[in-house]
Amino acid sequence: MLVSEKSALTAEIEGIVNEYGNTRDNLLPILQRILNKHGHISEFAQQEVARLLDIHPVEVYGVVTFYGFMRVKEEGRYIVRLCKTISCDLAGKEAIARAIERELDIKFGETTQDKKFTLEYINCMGMCDAGPAMLINDTVYTHLTPRKAIEILKNCK
Ligand code: FES
Repeated sequence: MLVSEKSALTAEIEGIVNEYGNTRDNLLPILQRILNKHGHISEFAQQEVARLLDIHPVEVYGVVTFYGFMRVKEEGRYIVRLCKTISCDLAGKEAIARAIERELDIKFGETTQDKKFTLEYINCMGMCDAGPAMLINDTVYTHLTPRKAIEILKNCK
């Protein structure tokens, strides 16, 4: 993040904190506002919130990571989540994972440069008898093969 971007973000967060009041009980609405605007709450934003509310950054981080909907990184338009739990693993998850990584040219935990795809692992989502399974945003895909997984990605518009 550039220095000018940081100071713009600082000014913005200062404005939000002034609006809500700089007390700890306003932490959640303040974080929610940042999330709504940016789609994620960066480490720098967390530090700034902590500084302005005079609380420890670990406390802010704890709140951000407690709520599954709060993201700490910028993410792609399509969040691809591949199940890593045992049934899907035994059904061939590894081959799917490698094929997807090759296709998108990123590793799990990363986002493509064009911000189209983010790749993550998830735990069992109850489709164990139909694995390997993955979730792309809200849609579940089952009985994957490497080829099928790539086709699904190619169809994401
Ligand atoms: S193990 Fe993958 S959905 Fe259950």
